[in-house]
Amino acid sequence: MNKHIVLLPGDGVGNEIVESAKHVLHAAASEFGHSFTLHEYAIGGAAIDHYDTPLPETTLEASREADAILLGAVGGDKWDALPAEKRPEKGLLGIRKALGLFANLRPVKGFPSLLHASPLKEHIIDGSDILIIRELTGGLYFGKPSERRDNGNAVVDTLYYARDEMERIIDKAFQSARLRRNHLTSVDKANVLESSRMWREIVNEKSKEYPDVVVEHELVDAAAMKLITQPNQFDVMVTENMFGDILSDEASVLTGSLGMLPSASIRSDGVGLYEPVHGSAPDIAGKGIANPLGTILSVAMMLRHSFQMEEEAAAVERAVRESLAQGYYTTDLDIKNGQLVSTEQMTAAVVENLTVKSVSDSICNIYV
Ligand code: IPM
Ligand code: MG
Repeated sequence: MNKHIVLLPGDGVGNEIVESAKHVLHAAASEFGHSFTLHEYAIGGAAIDHYDTPLPETTLEASREADAILLGAVGGDKWDALPAEKRPEKGLLGIRKALGLFANLRPVKGFPSLLHASPLKEHIIDGSDILIIRELTGGLYFGKPSERRDNGNAVVDTLYYARDEMERIIDKAFQSARLRRNHLTSVDKANVLESSRMWREIVNEKSKEYPDVVVEHELVDAAAMKLITQPNQFDVMVTENMFGDILSDEASVLTGSLGMLPSASIRSDGVGLYEPVHGSAPDIAGKGIANPLGTILSVAMMLRHSFQMEEEAAAVERAVRESLAQGYYTTDLDIKNGQLVSTEQMTAAVVENLTVKSVSDSICNIYV
């Protein structure tokens, strides 16, 4: 198969980790007889520096044409003083919105060799396997433009959701639960917010169409606590944009490091943007020590969700698991025994392990 992939390295460690992804894409292509054509464009702070906008029209156009998009990370101190509209983050939010990528899938599953790298007790996290589904193009992130009032002494941010925006993400969550363990936890703040009450109504209506899926409602504060005290009780979690942003960072501690988490932002026709959950990490940028695994696992999600290449995706995930089992780790992982490696060395280990083997022994259908 020939696929066109747009790469958006962005800022900070973005360049280094997207470089790793390129090696893995090339290796996967040659192992499985595909051809991936890679096109690189600017986004975020890098785009501000060159084009005076975080999301140049050329980047958006190329992304619209692509079969899939891989993004590194955006943001950094350098651009912090810019007004909201010009900040690097606006590039990421803009492309999510412009391409209609409303469903953000953030799988959280620990690798066996990293159980002890989590600050949580092993018996608590052992066996946890969660798919967080975050609504990505609505809510507080995309309400009416924020406003300062009363000479800057008051402020308004708006939380807006149309019914159909809630319906489509809730549908996606029910469908995903069916592909996993048929359990859906809907997270809201229905004891305070009207938007959450509408969300809950829709979940209850939809649950009639999916009688085989067990549904639970959880308030976001309680969900935040249970996520790290009883993570095993969750299968699929679905929630609105802001709650999902917060809970997915929190959930990353189950895997030992935020650097491990991949994500897919997709729409109904399968077009998707893939990116690690972590940010641009300006403090370690350029040092060659960033963990490339969240990005490499995002490549696996791209192969699976946008290209229907299940075997290839499984092979990439297995290569990651094997590299960790061989004892390689990057600085973000709190590991006692093993070999501390650079971004480049970790990437080389994954590429080395990426050979065609039977899918049956893989970890692998976890990222559905
Ligand atoms: C994420 C990030 C973004 C978000 C930022 C960079 C705008 O935190 O993808 O989780 O808040 O969505
Ligand atoms: Mg976030």
